Amino acid sequence: MYKKKINKIVLGTNNEGKVREIRKLLPKRLNIDTPKRRNISSPKETGSTFLENSLIKAKYFSNKTGEISLADDSGLEINVLNKKPGIYSARWAGKNSNFNIAIKKVYRELKKKKINFNKQIKCRFVCALTIYWPNKKFYQSQGKIEGTISSKPMGKKGFGYDPIFIPKGYKVTFGQMLFSKKSKIDHRFKAFKKIKKFF
Ligand code: IMP
Repeated sequence: MYKKKINKIVLGTNNEGKVREIRKLLPKRLNIDTPKRRNISSPKETGSTFLENSLIKAKYFSNKTGEISLADDSGLEINVLNKKPGIYSARWAGKNSNFNIAIKKVYRELKKKKINFNKQIKCRFVCALTIYWPNKKFYQSQGKIEGTISSKPMGKKGFGYDPIFIPKGYKVTFGQMLFSKKSKIDHRFKAFKKIKKFF
């Protein structure tokens, strides 16, 4: 099954931004369908890990369509916050996906822990992927990028927690970095590299 190259997939997300980013990471010849086009809403993310949640989504959309599905789940883990926001990264931004609120919550939680910004606040972005075939077989991969939380938000590029994430080995946040640079080093790029063989 895995030896046969995939020609068509249904993406396991209803997030337009994600669809655009994922398209750029997949070969141009691939026929990519979306749940939105078929009017299928997203399942509840009830897993306790990124891998579990990406499996829930890929399985759900494959079962609904009878096609091979590819789904991702990603987020930011901060060590001193016991890996939070983690799988709740999107949920910390509330119903309107307001990341000013999510970022404020990060600083509030760090303040509660009396964190000193002179010390490095270690964290990482994680991206989990699942490809799910209609015969119920699936394949998973994960990509991570280590970094630290900046003492204040910096930069207007990117999305989500980008303005507060400084990747290891760099002096700027993802919010200050060109997308063309970020997208060659980040968690998503690393996770996609591991599934390239299927396409
Ligand atoms: P989900 O994978 O749709 O559950 O949500 C992932 C959430 O993690 C996003 O809404 C962002 O808050 C955060 N996130 C994931 N990847 C990135 C990234 O590359 N930059 C900034 N935030 C990210």
